[in-house]
Amino acid sequence: TLARLTDLIGRAAADGRGVGAFNVFSIEHAEAHVAGAEEAGLPVVLQLSQNAVKYHRGLEPIALATLSIARTATVPVVVHLDHATDDALVDEAIAITRAEKAAGRDGFGSVMYDASALDYDANLAATADVVRRCRSAGIDVEAELGEVGGKDGVHAPGARTDPAEATAFVEATGVDALAVAVGSSHAMTTRTAALDLDLISQLAGVVGVPLVLHGSSGVPDDEIARAVRAGITKVNIATHLNVVFTDVVRGLLTENASMVDSRKYLGPAREAVAVEVARLLALLDSN
Ligand code: G3H
Ligand code: ZN
Repeated sequence: TLARLTDLIGRAAADGRGVGAFNVFSIEHAEAHVAGAEEAGLPVVLQLSQNAVKYHRGLEPIALATLSIARTATVPVVVHLDHATDDALVDEAIAITRAEKAAGRDGFGSVMYDASALDYDANLAATADVVRRCRSAGIDVEAELGEVGGKDGVHAPGARTDPAEATAFVEATGVDALAVAVGSSHAMTTRTAALDLDLISQLAGVVGVPLVLHGSSGVPDDEIARAVRAGITKVNIATHLNVVFTDVVRGLLTENASMVDSRKYLGPAREAVAVEVARLLALLDSN
């Protein structure tokens, strides 16, 4: 069943648990994430990034497919627009959600608006405007302060979010969740990052909304568990599950030079991702 982001992360934050948020690149990922969540008996966030939308040459086909898969799940699933920098894309997610609601169904449960590359005042103004537009459609908003590096291949693990600035930003914008820079970096294919756990505790103590860790693929299991104990609630993982998926595809195609039916390698890759999703959700929830 479809849920809103605040439904999941509000309770999880109060209990000191983490919630997994995994990116959808193709329909197989959406199916895998839902299967893994059902296996674990835990809620999940399915994220469509602006880059993935660009890959599919538009939001609607992949969004409607993802919503359709999420809707029939036996666990709560949030369909979330991830790293939107384009205002028109946010408006498209709002329009799809309004159309779904008009038809008696739910749509996007949240949007992450990423104006973190702008300076503080510009980020605040742009984010506050997105909150206003999303509110009227019943969509929650995640924003980012203190750019998490690596999205364009440049690792910037040194970036940090300032607690006082974060507190003021959340109050002024009315966002429902805040992505913070605490040592992780996007698109790492090794799980070797160390986090600033003291800063996470400080942020969790003063920021009035649940905190989001981006670039969690580079963070080892035990460090993710420590981050959740320190106060992270939503844990975003994309690259690591792509590694799991692609390793299976590469292995099968290497071993079977005559294999041509794409279902023969995509199916096992989807199954491997589902198993890893179930394992990660249980790890996050166990804190
Ligand atoms: O928003 C998505 C996440 O931050 C994913 O980052 O690919 O490094 O796990 P990752
Ligand atoms: Zn991210």
